[in-house]
Parts: sequence; C-alpha cells; structure tokens
Amino acid sequence: MRILITEPLIQSAADKLKEHFDVEIGERGSYYNEQAMIEAATKFDGIMTVLSNPVTENVLKAGDRLKVIGHYGVGYNNIDTDAAREQGIRISNTPDVLTDSTAEIALSLLLSAARQTNPAEKFLREGKFEGWAPDLFVGLELHGATLGVLGMGRIGEGLARRAKACGMNILYHNRSRANKKVEEELEAAYRPDLNQMLEEIDALSIHCPLTDETHHLINEERLNLMKDHAILVNTARGPVVDEAALARALHEGHLGGAGLDVFEKEPKVHPELLTAPNTVLLPHIGSATYKSRKAMGDLAANAIIGVLNGEAESVPNLVV
Ligand code: DGY
Repeated sequence: MRILITEPLIQSAADKLKEHFDVEIGERGSYYNEQAMIEAATKFDGIMTVLSNPVTENVLKAGDRLKVIGHYGVGYNNIDTDAAREQGIRISNTPDVLTDSTAEIALSLLLSAARQTNPAEKFLREGKFEGWAPDLFVGLELHGATLGVLGMGRIGEGLARRAKACGMNILYHNRSRANKKVEEELEAAYRPDLNQMLEEIDALSIHCPLTDETHHLINEERLNLMKDHAILVNTARGPVVDEAALARALHEGHLGGAGLDVFEKEPKVHPELLTAPNTVLLPHIGSATYKSRKAMGDLAANAIIGVLNGEAESVPNLVV
C-alpha cells in the first residue's frame, strides 16, 4: 500500500510508516491546493496531512483507494468530515499531545502582551533606554486580573490552570458547561453569555475550534464590549477573530494589546496588525516543541497503520 506524507515532517513518523508501506514525501507547499490533493487521493491508500492541505468533498470523492487521512494536528477544519463519513474514509487527529505546548504559548503571549515585553525590548534595542523611569511600560498585572477562556477544551483548560497559578480569576464560555471537578479546581465560573464575559474580563484567550458558528465570533461589536486595557490572545484559529476589526481596535486604543499565533489568511498577516501597538505576532508555533511534534507524528502514523491493517477499532484518535 502507498502512503503520502504531504510535506517533510518529523522523520520518526515516516520511518514508522516505512516499516509497513511504500511512503512518498511531498515537497513543502506542493499539496496546498485542491487539485494536487485530488490527484493524491487517486494514488494513495493513506495520506498524512497538515492544516494547509484542503481535504474537500472533491478530494474525498476522488479517493477511490483512499482509506485514511492521518492529520498531523488537533484542529481539522481543513477536512470535510461529513464527506469523509459518506465516503467511508477514516480521519484521525492529534489530541492531548499538544495541549501543554499550546497552553504554554498562550501563556507566553498573555504575559508578553500584558507586560508589553515586545515594545519594551524594541525600545531598548533602539537605544532609547535612559534608565529606570516610573512610567516606563507600565502594564497589566496578571495576579488578581480576570481571564476569560473562550472554549474550555483541553487547551483552554491547560491555559486556565497556568493562569490560575499566576493568580488570575477564571471565567469561561463554552458550548456546554465543564465538569464540576474542573470548575472547582480552577474556581472557574461559567458564563453562558459570551457578551457578558467579554465585559467582565481583563484578558481573553481563544481556544475554540473553527466552525461555521465560530467564524468571526469575535467581531467588532464584541471587541467593543471589552475593556480598553484588555488583552486578546488567539492560539486556536485566525478566522475566529475578525482581524480587520481587531487591528482597528488596537490602533484606536480600544484594547490594551494582543498576542496572536494564528491568522485569518495564513501565512498572510493583516498589514494593520503588523503596525498595531503592543501586539505580539508568532508564526503559528503553538505545538512546536520537540516533544509534541514527535508525539503528533506517532499518533498520525499509528492511526494510518491501524486503519490500513484493519484494526481501526483500536485507534483511539479517529474523529471519523
Ligand atoms: C493544530 O494542531 O491544530 C495546530 O494548529 C497545528 O499544530
């Protein structure tokens, strides 16, 4: 059987697959368009994908011999799961193994934006530091401030735990209420009304998946509900936030800052965000630790091996 890994990923995943199958590795970027994916779907029994590969209905319908997509990531909004179900193609993702790495990046963005470390560092590098001054880069103290977590899944909870350790009060908004134990441990209060939560918090961290319902969930109207000093952090998916509205709010001083690891039209970044005050911008590196990336490769490879060896029931991370 033939497997395509759409671009060079961690070597251990390819090595694992090579023990069972013929493995081809695509060049970076060569499978970022639908046509290339359609052609791949006709030639391979399994494909390991990344978030830039469009796995559309057309791709899945073309996949006569395709049986499994092992997706190297936890978010799979690039994959039409309904079409996969119809075509009987199994899909796996990589939950759990990137929870800590992504929660760490979210905390780092939150801290950086709250304490303005990026503009402060730039100021120093530009030779403007003339000695301690009482009004130099005075920021938001996390201790005692209130964090709103939008999406209390694994990563949202991971960030909430870290924020709690910093002394923050935790509110959260989610489709459904978190279990009692989590609420108690984090002393987290559920806010079924997102708008109410936005009015109450000093910082918002976004952890919900991208769906039709969450597209531009944070729009101009909702940004206006937030306090002028509030920080917005997004490590989930760019299109959850209306980027143009966010850039405007930052430039006009309706927000205190932002920390963004994801963007609406990656790899493009809204030009007004590049110049926005106190805005930390990272190139989608939430899960980029050696530990997470190795484990993601193992999970994706094992799912492909399990499905193609007829043992799908023993694969724990199938979403279809
Ligand atoms: C994911 O897993 O969804 C990340 O965005 C890529 O690591």
